[in-house]
Amino acid sequence: MTNQIVVFGATGYTGGLVIDALLRRGVRPVLAGRGAERLAKLAEQLGGLEYRVADVDDPASVRALVGAGDVLVTTVGPFEQFGHPVARAAVDAGAHYVDSTGEVGFVRALRQRHDARARAAGPSIAPAFGYDYVPGILAGALAARAAGAGGPRDGRSATSPSARCATG
Ligand SMILES: NC(=O)c1ccc[n+]([C@@H]2O[C@H](COP(=O)([O-])OP(=O)(O)OC[C@H]3O[C@@H](n4cnc5c(N)ncnc54)[C@H](OP(=O)(O)O)[C@@H]3O)[C@@H](O)[C@H]2O)c1
Repeated sequence: MTNQIVVFGATGYTGGLVIDALLRRGVRPVLAGRGAERLAKLAEQLGGLEYRVADVDDPASVRALVGAGDVLVTTVGPFEQFGHPVARAAVDAGAHYVDSTGEVGFVRALRQRHDARARAAGPSIAPAFGYDYVPGILAGALAARAAGAGGPRDGRSATSPSARCATG
């Protein structure tokens, strides 16, 4: 079975931007959110995309969104409030994880909770993967590497995403 990109938060503003960007590149994502009717309407408007209903308050429904090797893109925020069950679901599933957070404490917590397990299992965790943050993260990683700090891998950079993302 072909792996899928699932956009959780599809009915929101940022989720809409992600979906548009994927469609422009010829990728047909699976739409995910908590409102079945709105999802169905959106999926129809976008040419009959697949959609799945999930609510952060029901972690099993979030876990059911992805399987091993899929990509879970989440724009369901605030992330300190809503993000943890989503990240856990991705790691539990062996799915790659991308989010649009700008919440530094959330990024730090993800690293503490999931980095070792994701690293052992293979999937990448890439929080704060929006336009506003990626250039700064990459610049920080390069600066740390040039300074001999070993980059985000040594754990000194609390705001860095998984080293799998920032340093390849
Ligand atoms: N880093 C950056 O540059 C950047 C840029 C933009 C946004 N952001 C962040 O991205 C996040 C989303 O922003 P936004 O402007 O797109 O917000 P938004 O338009 O309000 O979208 C939020 C989405 O989350 C969904 N949601 C809320 N509670 C949920 C739950 N319990 N279960 C499942 N889905 C739920 C909403 O679904 P419903 O439609 O059902 O309410 C909606 O689809 C925010 O945390 C924001 O700070 C970051």
